[in-house]
Amino acid sequence: MNINENFLTLQKNYLFSEVQKRKEAYLKKHPDADVISLGIGDVTLPLAPVVIEAMHHGVDEMADKKSFHGYGEEQGYLFLRDAIRKYYEKKNVTLENAEIFISDGAKSDLGNMLDIFSIDNTIIIPDPVYPVYVDINQMAGRKIIFIHGTKENGFLPMPQEDLNGDIVYLCSPNNPTGAAYNRKQLQAWVDWANDHSAIIFYDAAYEAFLTQAYPSSIYEIEGAKQCAIEFCSLSKTAGFTGVRCGYTIVPLALEKDHVLLHDLWLRRQSTKFNGVSYIVQRGAQAVFTPVGQQQIQEAITYYLENTEMITKTLKDLGIWHIGGKISPYIWMACPKGFTSWEFFDYLLDKCQIVGTPGAGFGKQGEGYFRLSAFQDHDKVYEAMLRMIAHLGF
Ligand code: MLT
Repeated sequence: MNINENFLTLQKNYLFSEVQKRKEAYLKKHPDADVISLGIGDVTLPLAPVVIEAMHHGVDEMADKKSFHGYGEEQGYLFLRDAIRKYYEKKNVTLENAEIFISDGAKSDLGNMLDIFSIDNTIIIPDPVYPVYVDINQMAGRKIIFIHGTKENGFLPMPQEDLNGDIVYLCSPNNPTGAAYNRKQLQAWVDWANDHSAIIFYDAAYEAFLTQAYPSSIYEIEGAKQCAIEFCSLSKTAGFTGVRCGYTIVPLALEKDHVLLHDLWLRRQSTKFNGVSYIVQRGAQAVFTPVGQQQIQEAITYYLENTEMITKTLKDLGIWHIGGKISPYIWMACPKGFTSWEFFDYLLDKCQIVGTPGAGFGKQGEGYFRLSAFQDHDKVYEAMLRMIAHLGF
């Protein structure tokens, strides 16, 4: 018996588990501390009323023999896939229902999708970025090339002439920096992927925060159906972090080595995944109704008001930052020459605020820090008062 030794090369804890552990350790020492979390991107507003109503109805259906549901359709219920297809129509993206796979969120499928690709593939990962991309590939022992996001390139690395690899992860708007690729930049990535016979794993988990000036799906870009798989989630869009529902799009036309990736993914999913519950899929369907869209927009606007509060404070404090406006995250430089974990400790100790150290998102994140706007207005307001009191050096 041998274990997968690649696991021994990982950091001891997943980034957000580490943050949580340190917060708990602090609370153990200071049980009365009123700690405000601007760390993990976890929503605080309840589900939209229309979603709740749909889920209640789903529960009632499950209680009646005539409308009860056992195993669901293998790619997800048609009613939900069709609602998602229509949502993409509004972005001028034509999809077929067969191209949509309902998932329990983007994170799982970003990792699961690797099942259909050889272990020999070289993976290209922007740095800084959502740490899951690195960890899941490191677990499998794949070769990773990092491309650097820096202040100079606006934390949006582009393909250089000598870049070679098989799978590239793109996240736009980016977690953690909040920077988003424009149409021209995404076109350059799609062209690069098609020229290099590479695949783009496009993480659109934060697409709902974008304005129309930015593409919110990779398929808005010409040639993307020949090279890209898109992952999306209702976690941040509709407050589903605790409900779990997302979707993955694998174009029917996408093939490598004369093999249709769609077929491989369907084979993988029908074998290893039994789908998302009927009740949750009914709730997800409600997100895509006109009322649902209006209600989730209210929540997104609420969180964006938090980003305004945070960016205004940082501006007043003279601290360099980007993000917000089209993203729930603010990416700031650590003041006073702190490393990002030193600043984490400082902020927790002096202000009782939890954020996420930039170094947790990659080497290029050292010296930076992420603040999440997924929090209640009054808590963000209080957190900003504390920051002004302690960082107004
Ligand atoms: C984040 O805060 O970046 C994510 O919500 C954490 C996660 O999805 O694991």
